[in-house]
Amino acid sequence: MISNSFKKNELTSYRVSIAPMMDCTDRHFRVLMRQITKKSLLYTEMIVAQALHYSKNRNKLLDFDEIEHPISIQLGGDNPNLLAEAAQMAEDWGYDEINLNIGCPSPKVKSGNFGACLMGKPKIVAKCIEKMKKSCNIPITIKQRLGIDNLDSDDYLMQFVDHCSIAGADRFIIHARKAWLNGLNPKENRTIPPLQYERVKKLKKNRPELIIELNGGINTINDCIKTLKVFDGAMVGRAAYSHPFIWTQIDSKIYGQPEEYLSRSKIIKKVIPFVQKNIENDGRLWQMSKHIINLIENIPNAKIMRQELSEKCQNQKADVSILKKIAQQLEDAGQ
Ligand SMILES: Cc1cc2nc3c(=O)[nH]c(=O)nc-3n(C[C@H](O)[C@H](O)[C@H](O)COP(=O)(O)O)c2cc1C
Repeated sequence: MISNSFKKNELTSYRVSIAPMMDCTDRHFRVLMRQITKKSLLYTEMIVAQALHYSKNRNKLLDFDEIEHPISIQLGGDNPNLLAEAAQMAEDWGYDEINLNIGCPSPKVKSGNFGACLMGKPKIVAKCIEKMKKSCNIPITIKQRLGIDNLDSDDYLMQFVDHCSIAGADRFIIHARKAWLNGLNPKENRTIPPLQYERVKKLKKNRPELIIELNGGINTINDCIKTLKVFDGAMVGRAAYSHPFIWTQIDSKIYGQPEEYLSRSKIIKKVIPFVQKNIENDGRLWQMSKHIINLIENIPNAKIMRQELSEKCQNQKADVSILKKIAQQLEDAGQ
């Protein structure tokens, strides 16, 4: 057994995390989300270990801004050596944690033999974890499903988790539904298999010493509070991406920080320097604006402002003046 060098209170200090989501949780979204919560753990999109190995531009895949801490990098892969190499790179780059994706059911990921299909190969997963643990000194966590296809009993789930735990996995994030690898596309695999919190609860009851975080269908801060009565953490995905503004009180309500009123205009003003820097480095305004659009909902004229942002920010030559204008309009409207 690999010795666990991390104290439980370090590993449970991130009570809430914002889930890894392809094409959503890029560094621009993470900078935006960091204005909303300083304390929650943020995740990268999944980065494939093999892609990192062969990449001629690792900076592009790995770079993040200092303010994004605490940040976990999510890796995909099934080759222990490549994952160990990627883990070492992630530590060198300054990531706080590494997460292994054992939950993605997409056909492309399945054809690469990683993601959710690894739930059928606990020995390979254990080998990957062992090698990653040996190659770095930051926590290695797992994000998995309840099961796949017909490998979906409570006993199987517990055996799988035991394999990973013995190999040294430091925290388990369980998306509380199974995945069907044939017949459902990734989107359907996030909605059709029912959420089964009871089964994750049973796992936590049988393995109280393990750090278990619940994921799936957690849509409000109150849901997080309820989740944290049973589990060590609450991971929020779609509700954080699509409705970022409803999470502005995470730090006060979950982490006991002093309450701070954050308006939409204040959040936008805070990200403008990052957008400016990105544009100076050949980035585009739209990379951040596409996420900012989700901030503007449930207020008067939201539709008009969203439309303006969407139309003007997609122009390749657009600069931050449109963001300043929208922030001012929001401020004038008391938002
Ligand atoms: C657009 C999108 C992309 C996703 N990409 C990933 C991914 O790269 N890695 C991963 O582990 N999960 C991914 N997920 C799954 C989420 O992390 C999360 O497990 C799932 O959405 C359930 O949580 P929720 O109900 O809070 O959204 C993705 C989800 C969405 C909606």
